Amino acid sequence: MSENPASLPFVGYSLPARVFHWTIAAAIPVTLVIALIMDGEIFGFSEAAQGVLFDTHKLIGLVILLVVLLRVAYRLKNGAPPQSELMPEMQRKIGSITHVLLYVLLLVIPVLGYAGSQLFGAINLFNRLPIPVFLPHDEKLGDRVFVIHTFLGYAIMALAALHIGAALYHLVVRKDGVFARMWPGMRLK
Ligand code: HEM
Ligand code: HEM
Repeated sequence: MSENPASLPFVGYSLPARVFHWTIAAAIPVTLVIALIMDGEIFGFSEAAQGVLFDTHKLIGLVILLVVLLRVAYRLKNGAPPQSELMPEMQRKIGSITHVLLYVLLLVIPVLGYAGSQLFGAINLFNRLPIPVFLPHDEKLGDRVFVIHTFLGYAIMALAALHIGAALYHLVVRKDGVFARMWPGMRLK
């Protein structure tokens, strides 16, 4: 780590904000990788294995939804540390827009996944964990919902890649401490 956090003139994210961030940052790639392989086309899984993967994808997605709801509530109540003065105005704006878009996708994608699954009927994860269903059976609408769910799933992959690239750019090229604001090990005053 090339920057010296103790001498930086701005504060980092609180511990709860970092725990929320890194829980979701870990869960999203896992659920995305499962989404990409669960139909069995790439690895030719058995039907039973596919069922387990689908249910794992749904379960992680629902947990993400709960954590994101808590995270957004915490964020709205506590705000975020002021942005670094070292960042040009334009970069700050792009950063803020990207973060809002990430939050929107983090909410909309699992809601659509949950809605789409409900439209296909009862949800009973791993044959033992019933999930409440509020929507009527409508597979045609469910198909449409899943088209959007899938599209937005790819969109969040692209946006997260951009976001991670920007974080690494701050770490490696600009060395301006922005990375340290969120990194678990860095304690900023
Ligand atoms: C943030 C959380 C989620 C992300 C990022 C995500 C992402 C994705 C992606 C990218 C696909 C498409 C895979 C492909 O065909 O290439 C997909 C499919 C699917 N997702 Fe999610 N998902 C999430 C949450 C959920 C939730 C909460 C549920 C249900 C409770 C769900 C149910 C499904 C189902 C059933 C499919 C297959 C759809 C089909 O066969 O057309 N997902 N998801
Ligand atoms: C290796 C992976 C990641 C790294 C290194 C990283 C790094 C960071 C950093 C340094 C910040 C603070 C930016 C600032 O202070 O202006 C941040 C904020 C944020 N990150 Fe990430 N991130 C990663 C993955 C993700 C993923 C996968 C998501 C969601 C899909 C995500 C969503 C967010 C959001 C929404 C914020 C804004 C926090 C707020 O102001 O409330 N991050 N990230």
